[in-house]
Amino acid sequence: MSNIEEQTRQMQYIDLVKEVVERENERLKRRLKCAVVTFGCQMNARDSEKLTGVLREAGYEIIDEETEADFVIYNTCTVRDNANQKVYGHLGLLKSRVKKNPNLRIALCGCMMQEASVIETIREKYKFVNLVFGTHNIFKFPELLYRMLTSDSQIIDIWEDTDQIVEDLPVDRKYSFKSGINIMFGCNNFCSYCIVPYVRGRERSREPKEIIREIEKLVNEGVIEVMLLGQNVNSYGKNLDNPMSFAELLKEIEKIDGLKRIRFMTSHPKDLSDDLIEVMAKSEKICKHIHLPLQSGSDRVLKEMNRRYTKEQYLSLVEKIKKAIPDVAVTTDIIVGFPGETAADVDDTIDVIRKVHYDNAFTFIYSKRTGTPAAARPDQCDEAEVKANFDRVLNAVKEEAMIRNGYLVGRVEEALVEEINAHDDTFVTGRLSNNSMVHFKGDASLIGKLVKVNILEAKGFYYMGEMI
Ligand code: SAH
Ligand code: SF4
Ligand code: F3S
Repeated sequence: MSNIEEQTRQMQYIDLVKEVVERENERLKRRLKCAVVTFGCQMNARDSEKLTGVLREAGYEIIDEETEADFVIYNTCTVRDNANQKVYGHLGLLKSRVKKNPNLRIALCGCMMQEASVIETIREKYKFVNLVFGTHNIFKFPELLYRMLTSDSQIIDIWEDTDQIVEDLPVDRKYSFKSGINIMFGCNNFCSYCIVPYVRGRERSREPKEIIREIEKLVNEGVIEVMLLGQNVNSYGKNLDNPMSFAELLKEIEKIDGLKRIRFMTSHPKDLSDDLIEVMAKSEKICKHIHLPLQSGSDRVLKEMNRRYTKEQYLSLVEKIKKAIPDVAVTTDIIVGFPGETAADVDDTIDVIRKVHYDNAFTFIYSKRTGTPAAARPDQCDEAEVKANFDRVLNAVKEEAMIRNGYLVGRVEEALVEEINAHDDTFVTGRLSNNSMVHFKGDASLIGKLVKVNILEAKGFYYMGEMI
């Protein structure tokens, strides 16, 4: 079936779901409520917006509180084992609620569902789950939803892979003024520790005209900042009929009138081109922030991780970026405890942290993912040693960020106001171009606006300021 036919078919299912939901609403004399609970990365967050878009269109009331909902969907992540454990925790709590309320419906989707062992567990232990689907057939959600609402048996529909990209289904947005945009799906890199290529499938880029069209539509609706999403945005466009580089795509997006800020993630160091650096340096709209996952600073570990760059290559790339784009913020991801990693390897990682002066870094303890090459290795690390190394890395990250993060004090910077401050409602919280947060006096009327802020004080990972 072509993508357009599929889109039409799913829109028809939304109408069918709407009829069922309306009948239920009348019977209950209230609206059916649905909560979508999201785990994992920004790509999952964007997928959840697609789910809520469909649900809202079908007549559900969307709520945050899962305990109040008639229908709960968990959009799951499996990048580390603790993500899986969280989902099982939630399901355990739901078991007793299902007994009390037989009308409660539960669906599971996302990356974790692409693992055969998880599906087995759900079939055996969580029979009360009504619907299970995966990452490749999320566009079929309206149809699956209809089947769930008109059947009593557990529906499980998981695809191995797909080459389909279905455009133009309804989407909701968490923020009115900023939005994530998928520019590609999947990953071809097969880093030896990582499960993402297995659960998200092969790399597929969206057509540039579809991306531009979506952003133009968002801008018309009031969006001023976009975050371009992909597991490795630097390899965007390679598999298109008319290949186009990520740098070229950015130049096209830059031209969109009314769009004020462009962000993207994630950049794989091995594919970051000089063209991209040049486009960033010249751009008025691309934010001064690059997330450049290091994973490890040891050449041996990097090789075994299949990252395809060395410590020196990484360091010279960062140097080139910092030279071309003054004040750019560099952030990273680091894994501690990869099989066979020694304290000396961790010293190399810390050496990179000291040399790059990261603005921020996300540090993860290696998690064994069944099916990945690293999981099969006999030399898994000792837990206590990993903990000690992890603490060393974390301290280095904190120290460097503390020293680095003072550099904006005394300057006037533009901030996009995102929300009322959680601790003091006479303050608002805005995001600077470099992705740091700044808190300053203000009220709800500023939300979604770009304002000029005098940066007064650095507080580690955030700033205090005053609007001018
Ligand atoms: N595509 C992105 C990363 C997506 S996963 C990239 O390559 O940069 C986000 C982060 O999770 C990774 O950067 C890595 O640091 C971490 N991660 C992935 N697999 C992991 C594992 N098995 N154990 C611990 N951390 C992992
Ligand atoms: Fe995982 Fe590597 Fe792909 Fe990132 S680039 S998603 S770490 S395999
Ligand atoms: Fe998790 Fe899937 Fe993202 S495994 S990190 S939600 S791509």
